[in-house]
Amino acid sequence: MKKEYPPIKIRVCEPDLSNLEIEYVTEAIKNNYVSGFAPPVKRFEKEFAEKFGMKHAIAVNSGGSALFIVLKALGVKEGDEVIMPSFTMVASPAAASHCGAIPVFVDSSEQSFNMDPKKIEEKITPRTKAIMPVHIYGEPCDMDPIMEIAKKHNLHVVEDAAEIHGAKYKGKMAGTFGIAGCFSLFANKIISSGEGGVILTNDDSLANALNHMKSYDFNDDMHFWHKTVAFNLRYPALNAALGSAQLKRFDELVGKRRTNAQYYINGLKDVPGLTLFPEKPDTFSVFWMFGLLAPKRDELMDFLAENGIETRTFFIPMHRQPVYQHLQKDERFPWADHYGDNGLYLPSSSQLTSEQKDEVVGKIKEFYQKA
Ligand SMILES: Cc1ncc(COP(=O)(O)O)c(C=O)c1O
Repeated sequence: MKKEYPPIKIRVCEPDLSNLEIEYVTEAIKNNYVSGFAPPVKRFEKEFAEKFGMKHAIAVNSGGSALFIVLKALGVKEGDEVIMPSFTMVASPAAASHCGAIPVFVDSSEQSFNMDPKKIEEKITPRTKAIMPVHIYGEPCDMDPIMEIAKKHNLHVVEDAAEIHGAKYKGKMAGTFGIAGCFSLFANKIISSGEGGVILTNDDSLANALNHMKSYDFNDDMHFWHKTVAFNLRYPALNAALGSAQLKRFDELVGKRRTNAQYYINGLKDVPGLTLFPEKPDTFSVFWMFGLLAPKRDELMDFLAENGIETRTFFIPMHRQPVYQHLQKDERFPWADHYGDNGLYLPSSSQLTSEQKDEVVGKIKEFYQKA
């Protein structure tokens, strides 16, 4: 039986919407702009590309769709392999599976939730078509070795940048390293429009293919003329209007996530037994969710829930999922398991007040003093 808890006082994450979002969406409605073809979508795409200094941004209906159509447009097909971390959200391997390809999992590293670059090369086979680094919880992957390996083996790099709006690795925006970077705009993301996704690329022919694939491959010269079987994965104009308002607030929204993280680090650094993940050298981390490893993780989460504080466990690694277990033989993923079994993330909304963060820190301390 599922345990009953008191009402939630502090949610793990909530969208941060201001008058600007109301203004932009109202404006779209007043102009009758609702479909995926309407001007707010092109405007949002232009603004997103400019923000990241990239040539093309292609907006779609989710981060998962973004990953899927990029792999599909790159020709990933039945029997191919895509290398990615086991410690990720299911949308990363699902993108490969929907192409008929096999996700090949790599363990995380001791220092980071992200895929360990040292363990990638041993996974490359003649069937490998792409590497998909996933920037987990707002920390950019160690991109130099990943890009080097990809170059050496002539593989595409498709970044799963769903959780990483604004993070940088050695001064360069995460999501701009590979042939494509795929972002999510889901309600809990740093830049959100409820649902949605964006693909960044500098490759003109990939951008052209994606624009056709996301919209039934309507022909540019003769509208109802189709050369390939494609999809409707379009991003609706009302979401795009919301997205444009969030983009205007980009630095503010990223800054608030970083402030939360610093607050939690200061408050929790002396609690024995906790493992915190501060920003690493050479990176600008956006702390999409503030994650930590905690002894008695499940009991701690239960105690916080009893006090109206919502938290989430870390991802359950993909090699353990019912849908992907069969892909592993005797292989072990000790770090992915370690994070999955001991990690949780704390309330991380951008609009958290200091009082709320104090309450979270205070309750964690109380739990360990009693324990
Ligand atoms: C790492 C990662 N990849 C992909 C996705 C998929 O994004 P969406 O929910 O927009 O499909 C998510 C979503 O939360 C994610 O965390």
